[in-house]
Amino acid sequence: MGERFFRQVIGALHEAQATGLVSDKGRDVLGGLSGRATVGALQRFVGLFGGRSDICYLEVGVFQGLSLLSVAIEHPDFACFGVDNFSILDPKGENLGIVQERTARLKATNATLINMDFEAALERIDTLTGGRKVAVYFIDGAHDYRSQLMGLLLIKPHLAEQAVIVVDDANYPDVRQSTRDFLVSHPEFKMVFEAYSAGHPANLDDATRTACEAGFLNGVNVLVKDVGRVLPEMLPPVPASRHLYVNEWLVHRHRLAELAPEAMDLAQAALDGGDLAPATARIRAVYAADKASFDARFPDRNVHSAELTPGRFTDWG
Ligand SMILES: C[S@@+](CC[C@H](N)C(=O)[O-])C[C@H]1O[C@@H](n2cnc3c(N)ncnc32)[C@H](O)[C@@H]1O
Repeated sequence: MGERFFRQVIGALHEAQATGLVSDKGRDVLGGLSGRATVGALQRFVGLFGGRSDICYLEVGVFQGLSLLSVAIEHPDFACFGVDNFSILDPKGENLGIVQERTARLKATNATLINMDFEAALERIDTLTGGRKVAVYFIDGAHDYRSQLMGLLLIKPHLAEQAVIVVDDANYPDVRQSTRDFLVSHPEFKMVFEAYSAGHPANLDDATRTACEAGFLNGVNVLVKDVGRVLPEMLPPVPASRHLYVNEWLVHRHRLAELAPEAMDLAQAALDGGDLAPATARIRAVYAADKASFDARFPDRNVHSAELTPGRFTDWG
C-alpha cells in the first residue's frame, strides 16, 4: 500500500534535481526565494494527484509568490493555497501587493492567498481550504525550531491519505532538528530525500550560489505519509549537542530577552574590537521602544506568571 506513490515521489525528485522546473511559464513575472529544483519538485508532486477537487496544495511562506504561483499555473485545475502574514522579508510592506499583482497577471485563479499568521491559519485550515485535504504541503515560513515543529504537527489531521511534505531551508540545524523530532515521534511519516549545500547561499561565492538557485537553494527535507510503514527510517543529521536549545530558555527568562539579536551584534562588535557605536545605538533604540516593560522585570528568572491562577480544575463533570 503506497509503494507506487513512493516511487512516483522519488521519481519526481530525480527529475526535479536533473531538470528543475517543469516549465518556465512564469519566467517573466516570478522571482523569489526557492530553488528551481524545489519548485520543480512541488510542481511534479501536484501532478501526481491529477485534477482531484477534494485535495489541495498548501504552502506556508509565500513571500512574493514564486512557489505558490509556479505550482498554480502549472496545474490550473488544482486548488492551491498559500499562507503568509508578511511579517518578515518585507521592509517596505509591498509583498502582499506584489503577490496580488502577479496572481492577476498570471491569471492564477486557482491560487488563494491566506493573509494570516500560519499557526492561526493551520488551526482552522479545513475551513480555509473549503474542506479539502492537503496532498502537497510546503513549509517555508519562519525557520525557528518551534514554528517548524508546529508547521508539521498542526497539518497532521488535515493531510490526504497520500501526502508529501517539503520542508525548505533544511540547511538550518533548527529546521533539521524539528524535522527529526517529528519523524522519531511519528513513525507513520518517513523522509525520502534530503539535500543540503555547503552554506547559506547568501554566504557562498557567486558560482556556488548560482548552482544552489538551480537546485534546492538552502536545503530541503522531503517527507511522505507512510501509514503502512513500508519505508526505512531516514533522519536528517543534527548537532550532537542541544545546548543552543537550552540557551533559548536562559535567554527567554532574562530581563532583556527580546534584545537578544541586537545583543549578539553588540557582542560581535566587542569581540572584533571594532566600533561599538552602531550596535549600541541599535540596542538602545530597541530598548527605548519598550523601556517600561523591560524595567518592570527582574534581572533574571522572569516567569511571567503573576496573572495566572493558583489552581484551576477542568470544567468537566
Ligand atoms: C522565505 S519566504 C518564502 C519564500 C517563498 N516560498 C518563495 O518561493 O519565494 C518566508 C515567508 O514566510 C513568512 N512568514 C514568516 N513568519 C510567518 C508567520 N508566523 N505566519 C505566516 N507567514 C510567515 C514571511 O512573511 C515570508 O514571506
